Formats: sequence, C-alpha cells, structure tokens
Amino acid sequence: MRGVYQHSIDTLIPEVEAAVEAGVGAVLLFGIPESKDEQGSQSASDDGIIPMAVRACKERTSALVITDVCLCEYADHGHCGVVRGQGDGATVENDPTLELLARQAVAHARAGADIVAPSDMMDGRVAAIRRSLDEAELSSTPILSYAAKFASAFYGPFREAVESSPRFGDRRSYQLDPANADEALREVRMDIDEGADIVMVKPALAYLDLIRRVKTETGYPVAAYSASGEYAMVKAAAANGWIEEKAAVLEILTSIRRAGADIIITYWARQAAEWLAEG
Ligand code: PBG
Ligand code: ZN
Repeated sequence: MRGVYQHSIDTLIPEVEAAVEAGVGAVLLFGIPESKDEQGSQSASDDGIIPMAVRACKERTSALVITDVCLCEYADHGHCGVVRGQGDGATVENDPTLELLARQAVAHARAGADIVAPSDMMDGRVAAIRRSLDEAELSSTPILSYAAKFASAFYGPFREAVESSPRFGDRRSYQLDPANADEALREVRMDIDEGADIVMVKPALAYLDLIRRVKTETGYPVAAYSASGEYAMVKAAAANGWIEEKAAVLEILTSIRRAGADIIITYWARQAAEWLAEG
C-alpha cells in the first residue's frame, strides 16, 4: 500500500528519527522474521528482528519504543496463538500460547523496549506476561494491552504488509464480536485486573463509542488503534480525488481524541505531526 513499507534495521533508523523529529510520541514495531514456521520459533529469540531493532532504536535514536507481542507474524499458519489439529478440526489453543507470548515479551523488554503491547487476544496473557517480566527483573516495563480488539474487516492491508493472513479459518475464536460492547468492557476489566497499564480499543473509527465507554468507566489510560483499513479507505478516496486527505485525517484523529483516547496509534502519525506543526 502507498506509503507503507517493510523496513530493515538500516532503513528503520532514519524513519524513526524522522518521526521523532516531527514530534511523534512513540513508535510501534512489528517483526517479520526471515523465515516463518509452525511454532513461530523466531518469536522469542534475543537475536530476533525485534530485539535487534529495539537495540538499534534505543542506541541510535531518542524514540520511545513499543513492541507488538504476538505469534501471527512469526508462525506460518498466521494465527495469533498455537494451533492444534488439522483442516476443519484445527483450533487455536489459548493456554499453550501464554508461555510463548511471555517469553517474547521478556526478549523485547530485555532488549530495551519501553512498552510491550500484546495483540493476540488470548485470555490470561496480560497476567502471564506481567509475571514473566517481574521474574526477569523487568517489573518497570509497562504493558499496553490490546484489550478490546474486534474481529474486524479493517485489518486487511496490515495482514498483506506483514504476510500474516490466517492460512485457514479466521480470528473470531479469539477476537471480539463487533456487536458485543459489553463483552469488550469485560475484556478491558480483565486486562486491568491482570496488570495492564494502558488499555487499547481497536479499530478506532467504528468503535468510538467503546473508546468513550472505556475511558469513562475505567478512568484508565486508553489507546486507540486506527487500523490499516481505516488508513486505506482515506488513501484510496484521496488518490481518486474524492476526499481531501489532510482535512479528513485531522477530522478523524480529532474524533478519536474527542471520544477519549489518550494515545492514538495511526499510520498517519508522522504526516499528522507535520501537519499539526504547520498550524
Ligand atoms: C494481529 C494484529 C492485527 C493488527 C495488528 N496486529 C490484526 C489482525 O490481523 O488480527 C492490525 C493492524 C492494522 O490493521 O492496522 N496480532
Ligand atoms: Zn496476531
């Protein structure tokens, strides 16, 4: 997609520097390993692409670095958890996934990640990650939890960029039903009870009501993730001359902020920071 690239470490650093320079508050890193396998065995390595990228960012830039913690980027099946069985009988197994996620989070934090952000939606993973971080003497590393993450049609461009589309089935056994707002609130409360420091609602634009409810009902720091499909819609319309990109983007970001988000994760971050600086 226009304006979205995979980076190696050498091209990442100038990109991160430019973001910091523009006034972006933090970067969120997603890892794509050299090779994917069934277990996602690259995911917890101290020499994996993310620990390497984190070390480079922390040594060479002043960016606050957040890392995505999940299995789908590393596993060849593209699911966010451990898969058992074959064909129609295949299932994503919650509990065996927790240990892998915890090891991945520790590897990221040990490399210097400022915040770890689990995006898998397995139950109990915030507690498992918190316990492992504490045991590794990384108790001051905060967890930004994808707490209310919906099974959404707005993730398509991301999955293409990250090569993480599920090989079979879908993510509805672990991501939330878009119709069920109360379940989302329960998920948010569970993550807070387990030790999440910041809770996230994702996507943003179709879920502004939940951003507001989470903020009002929990008082917690709330992040909103404007997903790749939200970006793609505006990009496509702008490319056709059907919408004015700058005005539309600033209006959308303002609405997410108005709904109650303290943090906005967006593919427009650098561009928006530049527009805002222009006044
Ligand atoms: C998966 C993950 C997804 C995104 C980030 N991590 C979505 C998914 O495939 O379920 C979405 C990113 C986006 O669409 O911008 N752990
Ligand atoms: Zn995932």
